Amino acid sequence: MTKKKQSKKTVAVIGLGYVGLPLAILTAKKGYPVYGFDLDKKKVEKIKKNISPFKEEFIEERKQFLSKINASTDPTILKKADVVIVCVPTPVDEKFFPIFEPLISATELIINNRKPEQLIVIESTINPGVCEEVLLPLFQKANLVDGKDFFLAHCPERINPGKDAVSKGYNVSNIARVVGSTSKKGLLLAQNFYSSVIDAPIKAMGSIKEAEACKVVENSFRDINIAFVNELAKSFEKMDIDVKNVIEGAATKPFAFMAHFPSRGVGGHCIPVDPYYLIERARESGFDHKFLRVAREINNSMPAYTVELMHDLLNELEMPIKGTSVGVMGLSYKANVDDLRESPAVKIIEELEKKGAHVVRFDPYIPSMSDAKNLNDFLKKSDALIFVTNHKAFSSVDAKTFKKFGIRAIVDGVNSLDKEKIKKLGIKYKGIGRR
Ligand SMILES: NC(=O)c1ccc[n+]([C@@H]2O[C@H](COP(=O)([O-])OP(=O)(O)OC[C@H]3O[C@@H](n4cnc5c(N)ncnc54)[C@H](O)[C@@H]3O)[C@@H](O)[C@H]2O)c1
Repeated sequence: MTKKKQSKKTVAVIGLGYVGLPLAILTAKKGYPVYGFDLDKKKVEKIKKNISPFKEEFIEERKQFLSKINASTDPTILKKADVVIVCVPTPVDEKFFPIFEPLISATELIINNRKPEQLIVIESTINPGVCEEVLLPLFQKANLVDGKDFFLAHCPERINPGKDAVSKGYNVSNIARVVGSTSKKGLLLAQNFYSSVIDAPIKAMGSIKEAEACKVVENSFRDINIAFVNELAKSFEKMDIDVKNVIEGAATKPFAFMAHFPSRGVGGHCIPVDPYYLIERARESGFDHKFLRVAREINNSMPAYTVELMHDLLNELEMPIKGTSVGVMGLSYKANVDDLRESPAVKIIEELEKKGAHVVRFDPYIPSMSDAKNLNDFLKKSDALIFVTNHKAFSSVDAKTFKKFGIRAIVDGVNSLDKEKIKKLGIKYKGIGRR
C-alpha cells in the first residue's frame, strides 16, 4: 500500500511584530501555508508588498519569504487555520499594571472565527495563570470545551531581536522552547508542531502555568542581575574602581559566575515590563516580590543617573548644563534595531530637557526622530555626548573624531568606548561605573 503524503497544516499568526513576523517567515520557510493577521493596516500593506515594516536582520536576510505570508486585516482568515499563534503585545500601564486587552481581543477574534479542533498557542509573554484565569473563561462563555472543541497551549518566545553579543547567533529558528497546555492532546499537538518548525529541543512542561512562569523567570533573572551590576557601578564609581574591568576579571572564574554589564538602563518590550507581570500576579496571591521590585527601581533609576554623570562632567568643565548642546547618540533601546519601546534614551532626553540642556538626537535607524542628517552633522551640533546605543554604524567613530568635532565631554552609557584614548585627547569621560 502506498503511503499518502500528509498535507501540511495551515497556520495563522496573530500580531505581525518583532515576534510574530519572524515566526510567520520561519513557518512559511518550513513549508506551511501561512496567514498573518494584524490590526495595523499599514503593517499589513507593507508585508503584502514584500517590505518589512521594521528593521530586523532576521527578516532582512529572509525577505523572500515575506511573499509567502498571506497578510490580512480580515479576521475571517483565522477560520482557515489549524494552528493559530498569538503574538500580540503585553505591555504595562503607567502604574506598571499588566494590560491584557490585546490578548483578550485576539482571543475573542479566534473564538468568533474558529475552526473546529484548532490548536491555539499563546506566544506573548504572560504571567502564570493568564491562560487559565483570563483566556479559558472566554472560551467557556462561548460554550467551547477545552481539549475537545479547541486546544490551548503556551509556548513563550525567547528571541532577542538584532544581532548582538547577547544573541550569540540565536534566533527564532534555533532557540530551545518550552510548551505547556491545558490538555494532554493540546500538549502533544503543540510539541509536534514546534518540533517541525524549530531546530532545537522542545521541552514539555507539567502544566501551562509552568510554561508561563518560565518566561517571566528568565526575564526577571536578567533584570535582577543587571540591577546588581548597575548598583555596583554606582558604588564603584565612588571608590574609583572600573566595574567593567572587575566583571571581566570575575568572569574568568569558570563556574558559578555569569557576567552581566551595567548601562544607562534597560529597555525594550521584555526586561523592563515582564517582572511587573509576576510582581502583580504574586501580589494578588498575597506575596510581595521585594527583590524584583528593588531590581526594577534600580534599573529605572539609571537614565537619570546617566544624566547626573553628564552634569558632573560639565561642572568640571565649568559649563552649565542649561543651554549646552548635549548629543544623544543612539535612541533605540539596543544595537542595530529601530525599536524605541521603553528605550532609556527617552528618559535621558526628558531628564536633559528638565535641566535645560539643548538636546541633539541622532539614530541612523530612526531618522524620523533625529535632529541631524548624519553622524558628522550630529557631532558638529553637539558640545557633549551621551553614548546610548552602540549600533554597528557607530563602530568607526573613535576618540580622534570626537576631538575633531570639538566634543568636550562624553558619558559612555554602554561602556564600549576607549576611555583611555578619549581622556588622552583631553575629553572628559565617564562610563557607567568607570571613569
Ligand atoms: N520583542 C521582543 O524582543 C520579544 C521577545 C520575546 C517575547 N516577546 C513578547 O511577544 C509579544 C509580542 O511582542 P512584539 O515585540 O512582537 O510586539 P509588537 O508590538 O512588535 O507586535 C505586536 C503586533 O500585534 C498587533 N496587534 C495588537 N493587538 C492586536 C490584536 N488584538 N489583533 C491582532 N493584532 C494585534 C500590533 O499591531 C503589532 O503589529 C509580547 O508579549 C512580548 O512581550 C517580545
